[in-house]
Amino acid sequence: MKEQVEKIKKEIDTYKAESQEKLEEYRLRFISKKGKLSTLFNELKNVPSEGKREMGQVLNELKNSAKAKFQQLIENLEEKENSFGTSSIDLTLPSSYYTLGSAHPITSTRNRIVSIFEKLGFNVSEGPEIEDDWHNFTALNFPPNHPAREMQDTFFIEKEPDITLRTHTSSVQVRVMENQKPPIRTLSPGRVFRNEAISARAHCVFHQVEGLYVDKNVSFVDLKQTLYYFAQEMFGKDTKIRYRPSYFPFTEPSAEIDISCNICKGDGCNICKYSGWVEIAGSGMVDPNVLANCNIDPEEYTGFAFGMGIERITMLKYQINDLRLFTENDIRFLKQFRTVSS
Ligand code: DAH
Repeated sequence: MKEQVEKIKKEIDTYKAESQEKLEEYRLRFISKKGKLSTLFNELKNVPSEGKREMGQVLNELKNSAKAKFQQLIENLEEKENSFGTSSIDLTLPSSYYTLGSAHPITSTRNRIVSIFEKLGFNVSEGPEIEDDWHNFTALNFPPNHPAREMQDTFFIEKEPDITLRTHTSSVQVRVMENQKPPIRTLSPGRVFRNEAISARAHCVFHQVEGLYVDKNVSFVDLKQTLYYFAQEMFGKDTKIRYRPSYFPFTEPSAEIDISCNICKGDGCNICKYSGWVEIAGSGMVDPNVLANCNIDPEEYTGFAFGMGIERITMLKYQINDLRLFTENDIRFLKQFRTVSS
């Protein structure tokens, strides 16, 4: 039996495990329940009683060193797998790329609009999405029961006094004029809410940017030139602009602003419904009643205001034909804007 022990000891000492398979083979061969050591322990009962004690010690030592060797083999193998050069990692393979996130197209457009107007001296102001009737309607010259209120399908949160989700960012105009003295040049981007069925052309949550300029001697010419500058910066130098008379309670006179269709360059396509023009904003001279409601003297000051939909501008700029794409979070859609700077 002693010879057997010596043989196994030698085998253990010289054993090398260069792979997980070899390691497992070691375990099975020596230290598992059916391994060589177990067999030796089983044979202990055949050893004459005077030598049993000594043999038992020898076997225990062998068992301990076999286990220590197993531990050593595990460590050696781990070290080998982690070390460069000898490992199974192919260092010549190209590394995997980090996938960079990108700004949402609505965010990019909002930032682009803001940066264009910042060059003209406009700052950014924000107001609450939950508004009272005064800021959303009354101060903006919508008298109670005025039919224009019906045009904006309002979400009401509370009735009497009316608390609503703002239907437009024009409410921020009022807040700014109530709190600041002219000259005022401000841009108010934000979310607005209307009780509309969701379709390719309408959504119940969307984004607007409101612009407001109030000072002495502000005229319609300033409005025209400001929006002309914006259209060229946003859609390209050859963009033309036209004004169509319109009506808003808070501006007088009011006009809707169209730009020459940047897709067909005015030749006619289905985006511009073959007219060569697409609408981008509502605008006008701030109604004297609105100035007075905000404690600004309409005899001393005049102003212009405009409001545009950020989704609409984005759709025109990138030829997107369905508003719902902005909120579906489809990565295949969003990925396409990765290179758009924000
Ligand atoms: N608030 C209007 C809307 O939501 C947009 C608008 C039109 C804003 C004319 C203005 C403006 O400031 O002068 O439809």
